[in-house]
Amino acid sequence: MAPGTAQAEQLLLHTAQRRRARDCRHAWGLSAAVLLLLLPSAAGLLPPMMFCATQPETVPLTLLSGAQEKGAVCLDGTPPGYHLQRGSGTGANNWLIHLEGGGWCSTVKDCSSRRNSELGSSNFMKPILYAGILSSDQPLNPDFYNWNRVYVRYCDGGSFSGDAEGQAPDGSTLYFRGLRIYEAVIAEVMEKGLANATKVLLTGCSAGALATMLHCDDFSAKFAQEVSVKCLADAGFFLDVKDISGERTFWSVFDGVVQLQNIRNVLPKDCLAKKEPKECFFPAELIKSIHSPMFILNSAYDSFQVRYVLIPDSLAPDNSWLCCKHNIRNCNSTQMEFLNGFRNAMVDALKVVEDKEGWGLFIDSCFTHCQTVSDISWNSPFSPRLGDKTIAEAVGDWQCGCSERVKEIDCEYPCNPTCSRQLPP
Ligand SMILES: *[C@@H]1O[C@H](CO)[C@@H](O)[C@H](O)[C@H]1NC(C)=O
Ligand SMILES: *[C@@H]1O[C@H](CO)[C@@H](O)[C@H](O)[C@H]1NC(C)=O
Repeated sequence: MAPGTAQAEQLLLHTAQRRRARDCRHAWGLSAAVLLLLLPSAAGLLPPMMFCATQPETVPLTLLSGAQEKGAVCLDGTPPGYHLQRGSGTGANNWLIHLEGGGWCSTVKDCSSRRNSELGSSNFMKPILYAGILSSDQPLNPDFYNWNRVYVRYCDGGSFSGDAEGQAPDGSTLYFRGLRIYEAVIAEVMEKGLANATKVLLTGCSAGALATMLHCDDFSAKFAQEVSVKCLADAGFFLDVKDISGERTFWSVFDGVVQLQNIRNVLPKDCLAKKEPKECFFPAELIKSIHSPMFILNSAYDSFQVRYVLIPDSLAPDNSWLCCKHNIRNCNSTQMEFLNGFRNAMVDALKVVEDKEGWGLFIDSCFTHCQTVSDISWNSPFSPRLGDKTIAEAVGDWQCGCSERVKEIDCEYPCNPTCSRQLPP
């Protein structure tokens, strides 16, 4: 199962896809693509583009203090970590908290091997580069460049939401402590100034965006009424849809994660009263219960979901499907019809957002995943535009309440000329 696999498996996948990619007529840049896809934190490692005025900054890792006593540990028992860049000037009292993504692990085997990577152990974590919404470059990131910016590392494999223990095949303990990690890191950052914030944005990409949705309301509740608290979910709108064989692949993945990691406390009570826990883990259900202002940013042709939800490798898709999932430009008309079905399901599921005051939408039709953490997608000449705004402009206008219209849904692929080839695939 690709989204949750550890590094070794990622590399295997990577090699296999590269081999197949050679057979695609229009295959391009796949090796980097797959790695970036599975490790969103690496998005900041893209080469600096010509339009970037400043050098990207490396931000050191801080390990959570007292992690073991709180039981707030990574899969392997090591303390979790985060990166903090202090705000200044008008941003000195504003805080942005970003929850890292990187798939999930849904079986003991997956979670065990994940301990050999930065997604399961702080032994492998290094300083990271801040890009996109995390950048200190004012022209690139005009709304958040001088905020306090925290990047919380993801090492629990369960979207910062589990609370359980398991046993690895070698007899060692596996810690599923995402919920405790989230609580303990937020508590530590509170003491570093978050407690006195005037504006706060909780955000995350992919599995971190799902965590953002799961925690948005409990996060808001930590602050006084007069504090502006909002949430931004980037590429986390995972849909319970059928894959090309007619099976609900992701249904079983989420079932595995929810059961193995004992994810219950973070699921909305009103949903649990009517549905099974795994159903309540899907954003289409979750957003019905979220009361705090939220911005949902997603591609309607999310490259991650196309690759792992709609056309999973486990189905051994033929060469034509492989070429299609590598690059949407390779899809034939039957395949585009299938992908448009996925887009329509997403647009339908987002209809409830229309009536939600203070919410925002940016649903573009570009074949990409995680658009806040790369300079190119966030705010550049190559950034996708909707209503003539880049993602940074749309999110900025929503955050400050400066614009009436902050809910935009793109037309069907390939109608949007701003979906450039420069975007991280
Ligand atoms: C919050 O502000 C109060 C009053 O200015 C100050 O005493 C306190 O140390 C601040 N707390 C943090 C965590 O910065
Ligand atoms: C597109 O590719 C799929 C998968 O190989 C195939 O089943 C379908 O017939 C193709 N459609 C067209 C219009 O070529």
